[in-house]
Amino acid sequence: MKPGKPHIHNLPINDITNLSVLAQRVQQEAEARGETLPPPVRLHIGEPSFRTPEHIRQAAIDSIGREPLTYGPAVGWPWLRELLAEKIARVNRYRVRPENVAIAMGGTGAIQAVFLATLGVGDEALIPDPHWPHYNMQLAACGATLVSYPLNAEQAWLPDIAQLERLVTPRTRMLVINSPGNPTGAVFPASLVADLLDFARRHDLYLLSDECYDEIVFEGRHVSPASFLTQDEFTEGRVICVYTFSKSYAMTGWRIGYVTTGAELLKSIVYVLDAGMTNVSTAIQRAAAAALSGPQDCISEMRNAYQRRRDLAVVLLKEHGRYVYTPHDAFYILVDISNSRYPQRHARQFSLDLLREHNITIGPGSAFGPAADHYARISLAASDEEIEGGVRAVCLFADR
Ligand SMILES: Cc1ncc(COP(=O)(O)O)c(C=O)c1O
Repeated sequence: MKPGKPHIHNLPINDITNLSVLAQRVQQEAEARGETLPPPVRLHIGEPSFRTPEHIRQAAIDSIGREPLTYGPAVGWPWLRELLAEKIARVNRYRVRPENVAIAMGGTGAIQAVFLATLGVGDEALIPDPHWPHYNMQLAACGATLVSYPLNAEQAWLPDIAQLERLVTPRTRMLVINSPGNPTGAVFPASLVADLLDFARRHDLYLLSDECYDEIVFEGRHVSPASFLTQDEFTEGRVICVYTFSKSYAMTGWRIGYVTTGAELLKSIVYVLDAGMTNVSTAIQRAAAAALSGPQDCISEMRNAYQRRRDLAVVLLKEHGRYVYTPHDAFYILVDISNSRYPQRHARQFSLDLLREHNITIGPGSAFGPAADHYARISLAASDEEIEGGVRAVCLFADR
């Protein structure tokens, strides 16, 4: 048996992806018994419940009909990078030149390229707990060490600088922050973002700001650390910001995102992008350009729907005495599943039992890190009926 590098081979299973497989298995088992099970209520996945808007889809179709679709530049086409520089100024409120933007295969591809371009074996990256599960796998792939900084609902899931100070070692190279946050729904206030930037400066760290949910904010204002930098500081390459089309434009399957930073660091990142994907398909880049230059009301329509569903979930949690906090962004809510008999109930087993007994999938908090092990993450990207039925079922199940 030659299973590959042990630290990659032995990574914990990604329970979010795995739940889809398990849900399918439950269906097959029912079929084998001659029973018909309705499709599962899927509340585990961060998949927008909307179709990519028509004008965006059409732009890709037109490109396929009209353009040669040869290899393109690894950094992305200039026409898209120009539109992105405008978007960054409009939405994220800092100025970049198109030369500071590179196109990647989703936020995922951008983050992986940043890690590979900056971190080596044994380097430590400070990562929030709970966090988007891919950070684990991505850091393992480049041999770097994940050092988590725990967050909690009592402190509104916001990082604590004093705690971060205690985690710094001579091997610390990077601080990763994620606001607007998944799975926490936290939007960092401007003063905290400024303090986190100071922390990174003080310890000479890269600051990777994962801003993939930048346009799905209900309350508060998303502030990018890059908006605090002078042009010279931005050029330095300390701060790296990552974005995606997946969430704002319901384009998860199109696999396109982008990264901004100083031109010298971007050069290293683009070598990694080139090595891993050559370039994102021109047809997909045309769709992204149509998303940016077309009507933007699709974003507010989807955002309003997520906010309405967030409100619905909060009301239900209050009704069931399980309200802990209100998420201010993205489309998830963490529900505390502990009870007096099980003060530290394990989310993984809870999610497996809930699937078997109620045919509902939730994201076990453990998939996002130990700090969320007694939480279920419910995706608000489902229908109102699914959220209503699902939240009630989770609460009743948690009371047992
Ligand atoms: C916090 C966070 N960052 C990055 C991503 C990557 O998204 P994509 O690769 O679809 O752009 C996700 C996706 O769920 C996410 O939740």
